[in-house]
Amino acid sequence: MKKKLIVANWKLNPTSQREAERLFESIRKGVEKIKNAETVICPPFIYLLLFNGLSLGAQDVFCENEGAFTGEISPEMLKNAGVKYAIIGHSERRKHFKETDEIINKKIKKSLNVGLKPIFCIGENTGENKTVVLENQIEKGLEGVSAKDFVKIIIAYEPVWAIGTGHNCSIDATMGSILLIKKMILRLYGKKSASAVRVIYGGSVDGENAGLYLKETGADGLLVGSASLNAEEFMKIVMVAS
Ligand code: PGA
Repeated sequence: MKKKLIVANWKLNPTSQREAERLFESIRKGVEKIKNAETVICPPFIYLLLFNGLSLGAQDVFCENEGAFTGEISPEMLKNAGVKYAIIGHSERRKHFKETDEIINKKIKKSLNVGLKPIFCIGENTGENKTVVLENQIEKGLEGVSAKDFVKIIIAYEPVWAIGTGHNCSIDATMGSILLIKKMILRLYGKKSASAVRVIYGGSVDGENAGLYLKETGADGLLVGSASLNAEEFMKIVMVAS
């Protein structure tokens, strides 16, 4: 059985190193004995080097590994700093920073090149045709990614309307979307990859609803925003995953 992956996306929080260390330590202590779920903390870049003892992920990454790009952080830098994952294509970046599928594709490929595992976010917004959006994001985001590299990618299904709103996606709809994603992967990469790939769910996950997603939708894990800023609440989520 695949280990469940519980990913904490801290977004633009917390505002000080002290708070970040306190939050990380509470989570680390709370989950240290858990062996059958992997906890990944994705803090802002500035805190990544402070932490040890849990898997780490970046919330974004640049699409090149070298060159004159003031202000950017490369996949190779992250990999060399001990970071294992990078969230790529989060809907907030697609929206606020106008990230296109082409840029996302470049970020995925450059990350894979250096051994950084992409957590590739996809999802439809209200009023959009889910099948069309997911198909488009998957095909363009994964263009040129080989079957061998593909299995290192984690796909995060996050309907945009469910992120940070408290309106989590229904269990049936989530199950339907995960099946749809697996079908698309089957078509692109074949049966073995479709059963090996990890598809996780994100969007208003909390300690109450986490168990339902993990047990009833086929999700291999969860991407957690607001609830990951409260150590107790986040630990409840990790507990149900273990
Ligand atoms: P949320 O965020 O849990 O606050 O909805 C999820 C995410 O943005 O990944």
